[in-house]
Amino acid sequence: MTRELRFYADSANVEEISALLADGLVHGVTTNPTILERGRRSVRDIPELYARWEAEGAREIFFQAWGDSAKTMIGNAERLAALGSRVVVKVPATRDGFTTAAALVSAGATVLVTAVYAQAQALAAATVGVRYIAPYLGRLNDAGREGVAEISAMQSLVQGSGTDVLAASLRTPDDIVSLAEVGVPFFTAAPAVILAALYSEVSDRSAEDFEAAVARGLQD
Ligand code: G3P
Repeated sequence: MTRELRFYADSANVEEISALLADGLVHGVTTNPTILERGRRSVRDIPELYARWEAEGAREIFFQAWGDSAKTMIGNAERLAALGSRVVVKVPATRDGFTTAAALVSAGATVLVTAVYAQAQALAAATVGVRYIAPYLGRLNDAGREGVAEISAMQSLVQGSGTDVLAASLRTPDDIVSLAEVGVPFFTAAPAVILAALYSEVSDRSAEDFEAAVARGLQD
């Protein structure tokens, strides 16, 4: 059985994202209101960002619904879903978020439940039929919990249900590897973490040796 694995860029830094998309290194882009703010963007910029990342080849583009009631959140979520076929609507794992998730799934949208911190939330998201759940590894560990073990248990809970784990709050390449080892297929991380996952000093030295051999061969 083959297993598809994917990286996503968790960022609103358009220059860094453009490079990752152009180089074919990420499947898509994930954002939330905090990430937009960090990239000096706001929810007003979402239509422009969607158009840009779609044109740059992102296969999935995630924006998060907001609102202080389920009604408001559903309205915002519907506007996000209407941006285009590559949108995945994120909703927080709250009472209103689950109501929004259920409404969106019924309407045929692709949905991710984010900031999942409990096994029961992972299970509940799968019962609602969302495509993805996003547990936060770094923040689970920050809270003194066993992040990898907890996300591994979530992965087992949703396995085969049509809901997949798309892990977030990944701060090092080793975070990604630890989760891949327990079966998590999808990962979103800041561009710097994705780039760090491509790097080994020994590989770079080997590449220099290959280049030197090519150059020596051409001197003859
Ligand atoms: O997408 C989750 C991300 O925004 C959280 O990352 O490292 O701030 O916990 P971090």
